[in-house]
Amino acid sequence: MNISITKTTCPKEKPDASTLGFGKIFTDHMFMMDYSREDGWHNARIVPFENLSIHPASTVLHYGSEIFEGLKAYRRADGQVQMFRPIENIRRMNSSAERLCLPQIPEEDALQALTAFVKLEQDWTPSAPNTSLYLRPFMFGNDETLGVHAVHNATFIIIASPVGSYYKEGINPVKIMIEDEDVRAVRGGTGYAKCGGNYAASNRAGERAEQKGYSQVLWLDGVERKYIEEVGAMNVMFKIGDEIVTPMLSGSILPGITRKSCLEVLRKEGYQVSERLISIDELAQAMKDGTLLEAWGCGTAAVISPIGELCYKGVKYTVNEGKIGQVTQYLYDTLTGIQWGNKNDEFGWIYPIQ
Ligand code: PLP
Ligand code: COI
Repeated sequence: MNISITKTTCPKEKPDASTLGFGKIFTDHMFMMDYSREDGWHNARIVPFENLSIHPASTVLHYGSEIFEGLKAYRRADGQVQMFRPIENIRRMNSSAERLCLPQIPEEDALQALTAFVKLEQDWTPSAPNTSLYLRPFMFGNDETLGVHAVHNATFIIIASPVGSYYKEGINPVKIMIEDEDVRAVRGGTGYAKCGGNYAASNRAGERAEQKGYSQVLWLDGVERKYIEEVGAMNVMFKIGDEIVTPMLSGSILPGITRKSCLEVLRKEGYQVSERLISIDELAQAMKDGTLLEAWGCGTAAVISPIGELCYKGVKYTVNEGKIGQVTQYLYDTLTGIQWGNKNDEFGWIYPIQ
């Protein structure tokens, strides 16, 4: 694939690491390419970061044909910039695209796009502890007609944002509200796809939780409101007695790449790990009788985020005295160690930018 590059004539100043937050600052360029049924993917280009101009009837604005991904580039101590498991994000993006009737991108083209873009923007990868360059590939349908149908024209874009912690708490435990009214997804729907609509549907409960002082909601299944699913922007894991348990991939939760990585690390270390149904009753019982020893969320933006308090039907349960637990800390150290290049990458997850 040929990628044309037009560099900005007015590069921005790089931000101070203390001001980063999450997703507020964007780099100088973006990658773009267009799709039409007739021509396939074409016009791959890196151009200065700027506002988009789209037709007011564009599919995405009316029918929500949009998918996205999230991955990070990390700066190692020796200055090298590297991505974490980018091929996993590319595969998930194509799975989301299939669900939303958006076009597939050949894996090698998506990887080439990511690599060329990060290479050009690599100076934006911050080096302060716990900072990284968040990469946001996304795709949307932009047919200029109001008929409802599979997408014929689409745009794929990658933007990048130097980031610090997603939660203001950083690695400190967050408070999560278990949502028993709204649901996020149902089997057969789009729960396993990373599409904008899932997040739009989540906002009402997220907002209610925030008003009560909680960081995010923990979703229950959409049919019986009985089984644990995932948190707003991360998958969830529990240590109940000696078992580490996480909801199985049922079709309604996102198959997280951090989740997959945690499971691989834990299984290699010989932990007893189960991917299975966990009912809210089982969790509530474990909270009451003290066998819920640790709870944490995992995701690209959230990294490994200990959960210090869970609230269900107005009752608050403190987990591990509100402190980070041993397994949570181990996973945090192992994953971030590999991501920032301080630990040997024995799994082959790192993709250096040459
Ligand atoms: N679940 C949801 C709803 C998410 O938005 C995310 C973040 O991407 C995750 C789980 C974790 O996925 P990953 O580890 O691939 O970032
Ligand atoms: C990510 O972790 O990459 C996500 O996409 C979560 C996001 C909704 C902020």
